[in-house]
Amino acid sequence: EAGNLAQELGWDAYAVGGFVRDILLGRPNLDIDLVVEGDGIAFASALVERLGGRIKAHKKFKTAVCILDDGRRVDVATARLEYYQYPAALPTVELSSIKMDLYRRDFTMNALALRLNPGKFGQLVDFFGAERDIKNKQIRVLHSLSFVEDPTRILRAVRFEQRFGFRIGGQTMRLVKNALQLNLFEKLSGSRITHELRLVMDEENPLNVVERMNDLGLLKAIHPLLKLTHERVRVLQELEKVFNWYKLLYLDDQADCWKLYFLGLTMGTKREELSKVADRLNFSRREERELLALRDQIGDALMRLMGWQEGKTPLSRLYSILTPIPLEGVLFLMARSRKESIRRNISQYLARLRYVSIDVSGDDLIEMGIPEGPVFTLILDKILAARVDGNVGSREEQLAMALR
Ligand code: CTP
Repeated sequence: EAGNLAQELGWDAYAVGGFVRDILLGRPNLDIDLVVEGDGIAFASALVERLGGRIKAHKKFKTAVCILDDGRRVDVATARLEYYQYPAALPTVELSSIKMDLYRRDFTMNALALRLNPGKFGQLVDFFGAERDIKNKQIRVLHSLSFVEDPTRILRAVRFEQRFGFRIGGQTMRLVKNALQLNLFEKLSGSRITHELRLVMDEENPLNVVERMNDLGLLKAIHPLLKLTHERVRVLQELEKVFNWYKLLYLDDQADCWKLYFLGLTMGTKREELSKVADRLNFSRREERELLALRDQIGDALMRLMGWQEGKTPLSRLYSILTPIPLEGVLFLMARSRKESIRRNISQYLARLRYVSIDVSGDDLIEMGIPEGPVFTLILDKILAARVDGNVGSREEQLAMALR
C-alpha cells in the first residue's frame, strides 16, 4: 500500500533499517521504518488517511510516526535531495538521497533498504555490502568517524553482537578501542547512556551483553564502579533466570527489570558510591531515592531471612517481610538467596501468598462490639497471618478468631 501511495505521489518509498535486516535474518520485527524521497510528513498523512490511524509529525526533522488503527506503528522519514556541485566541467549530480540517508546510519546491516514502489517492489538496495556482512555475521560501521559522531553506537554494536550471535569486525573493533582511548564516553550525557543501558536490559540475554561490555572496558568507561565481580555475575545470572521466569508466568504484571539489573551491577557499593553512579547516569532525584530505598529494604529483608528454618518458620513471617517490598525487590531477593528453600518460598509468595486476603473488615469488628483503635490493625493482621499459614478457613472461623 505504501508503495502504491508513493507512486501516486510521484516519490520513491523504501523500508529501511532493522526491519529489512530482520527480514534477511528471518526474525520477526513489527516496527516498520520507511524513508520517502519526497515529503515524509505529507506521505504519512496520506498513508493514515488510507489505512486508518493517526500521525504525530516532527516538522523540524521532517519525520512522522503513524499509529495505525490495527495497532501497528510505522515511522516515516524524509530523505533530502542533496545536490553535489563538482568543480569545473563535471555536471551537478544528484546523489541518490536514499544513499545519503543510509550512509548516516550505524552499521552496514542496518543500512539496507527495500524498494516499495510497484514494479520495483521487494528489490534490495545494498550500497555498503550489508548482505555480505550479514552472511558473514559481521558488524561493521560505514565509516571511520561513526563512533566519534555517536559513541552510543558502541553499545549498540555489542547489543546486536550478542542478540544475533554476530561479531564486531576487525577494523570496527579497532575503532571501538580507539574511541575508548579518546574517552569518548566521558562526553556522553547520562541520559543517553541510560537509554542505551535500558535497551540492553530489555534484551533477552542482557548478561551476555553486560559481560562483553565488561571485557571491552565499556562498563568501566561508563563508571569505574561498574565492574563485574564473581559475586555480581552470579547474582546477575540468577536475576536473568528469575526475571525470565517471572515474565513468562505473570504476563500482565511486569517488573521494572532495569532497576533489578542496576542493583545487581552496583552490588556491594557504598551508599555514596551508588549515588555517584546514579548521578553519572542522570537518574532523577526520585529514581535515585527509590533505588537507595529499595536496596535498604532488600538488605533488611536479607537479614530477617537469615534465621529461616524450612518447615519451622511460618509462612506468615515471610509474608510480613516481603509485603512492604516492591516487586523488583522481591525478585532481587529471590535471585540473591542461596538457600533453595527460601527461593522456593518466595516463588510461592509470588504465585499465591501475595494475593491472600481476609473476609473480615473493620466494620465487622465494630459490629462485634470491639472498641475502635490500633487494636483493629493487630486483629486484622493476626487473621491475615493465620490465613497465610492456612490455619483459618471460612469467614465464620475468621470472625471467631477476632474474638480470641
Ligand atoms: N541508528 C543509528 N545510530 C544510532 C541509533 C540508530 O544510525 N545511534 C539507526 C540505525 O540504522 C537503525 C535505525 O536508526 O536501524 C533505527 O534505530 P532503532 O530503532 O534503534 O534500531 P533497530 O535496528 O530497529 O533496533 P531494534 O531491533 O533494537 O529495534
